Amino acid sequence: MIIHSKIKDYEVVMENNTDFLNDLCGLKDSQFVIDEKVYRLYSDKFSSIPEDRLILIEAIEHNKIIDTALEICEKMTEIPAKRNATLISVGGGIIQDLTGFVANILYRGIKWIFVPTTLLASSDSCIGGKTSLNYKKYKNLLGTFYPPDTIYVCPIFFDTLSEKDFKSGLGEVIKFNIMAGDTGLTNIENNIDKLLIRDHKIVREFVLSSLEYKSKFIEIDEFDRGERIKLNFAHTFGHAIEVVTNYCIPHGTAVAIGMIMADSISVKRGLLTDEVANRSKQVLLKVIDIDVDLLNVDINDVIKAIRKDKKQTNDSLAAVLLANNKGLSELVIVYDMTIEEVKYSFESFFDDYTNK
Ligand SMILES: NC(=O)c1ccc[n+]([C@@H]2O[C@H](COP(=O)([O-])OP(=O)(O)OC[C@H]3O[C@@H](n4cnc5c(N)ncnc54)[C@H](O)[C@@H]3O)[C@@H](O)[C@H]2O)c1
Ligand SMILES: [Zn+2]
Repeated sequence: MIIHSKIKDYEVVMENNTDFLNDLCGLKDSQFVIDEKVYRLYSDKFSSIPEDRLILIEAIEHNKIIDTALEICEKMTEIPAKRNATLISVGGGIIQDLTGFVANILYRGIKWIFVPTTLLASSDSCIGGKTSLNYKKYKNLLGTFYPPDTIYVCPIFFDTLSEKDFKSGLGEVIKFNIMAGDTGLTNIENNIDKLLIRDHKIVREFVLSSLEYKSKFIEIDEFDRGERIKLNFAHTFGHAIEVVTNYCIPHGTAVAIGMIMADSISVKRGLLTDEVANRSKQVLLKVIDIDVDLLNVDINDVIKAIRKDKKQTNDSLAAVLLANNKGLSELVIVYDMTIEEVKYSFESFFDDYTNK
């Protein structure tokens, strides 16, 4: 699959096994940055990488910072090829955000190959070109747009993902299907149980269809000024849930919760039928698996977190909601969401989750 970009067109290559890593490990003038856990789990696949070309990073938010990015830059200055060097990174969204930033700023941009190893990075974040770093208490405050040159998606990696991280990735996969309307919703309803047991064929199909769906938005509006904003469906709520639970709930799971919250507001506004909202909820509840104590939060903190979100531009609250119009789904950006609506949506999610 080719993704058209104003920065550079780039390719997503689907791989059935890890053989492609043999060629990558032998690539001249390259520097590897690999998620430490992934390196340990797949050490035999990376054994031919010389020590001086390898950086291992623990995939924790605390490492997604400018200091780590600068350390990688410094290490890469030792490669004689300088700006013709290639950065090859292997890991989930944390490694992607960090290395994408490095690849963008070092020598004003170097070649970058990315191998996503989580479901979330493979089905969603690997395309779109966003790079982000955390700064002090601000998550993803610093960032640029810079896509990899090539992305190798290999679903074999998901076999070793924890249940928590796999279900988080499913949250985003379900999101694309719900956004796509009735065909997408029916498709995910019919396949969610196979996805949950990580059926290779089905997982692969859904990764591909998610990327195809997302690519349409980013090709129209790469820099997030119009159409792409719709990809933030449910994210206003999801980000707030991440913040108030101190990031104990992973991104995709928070987005899954956000979708249930968003849909309850849509139903109340008469934008969405009860039937679609309920069907979506039944699928989403299958991937939301959290300690209920995490939800014992002050609703005012949820509202405060929404207000602080970088996507909010004025006093009233904005969100992307789902609507159906004559049987077809569409995403609407609302700018007049009230505090009462947020409270109602959180309380209805809480009831749904505790009674599931
Ligand atoms: N750039 C974007 O467009 C974008 C979009 C969404 C999220 N993000 C960022 O992505 C990050 C979350 O990324 P994520 O959910 O992909 O995961 P992650 O990078 O946070 O990794 C989650 C856990 O999975 C482990 N892991 C990774 N691959 C594994 C494998 N194959 N087997 C076993 N364990 C494995 C990691 O070591 C880590 O413990 C956040 O920092 C978020 O801000 C970026
Ligand atoms: Zn997301």
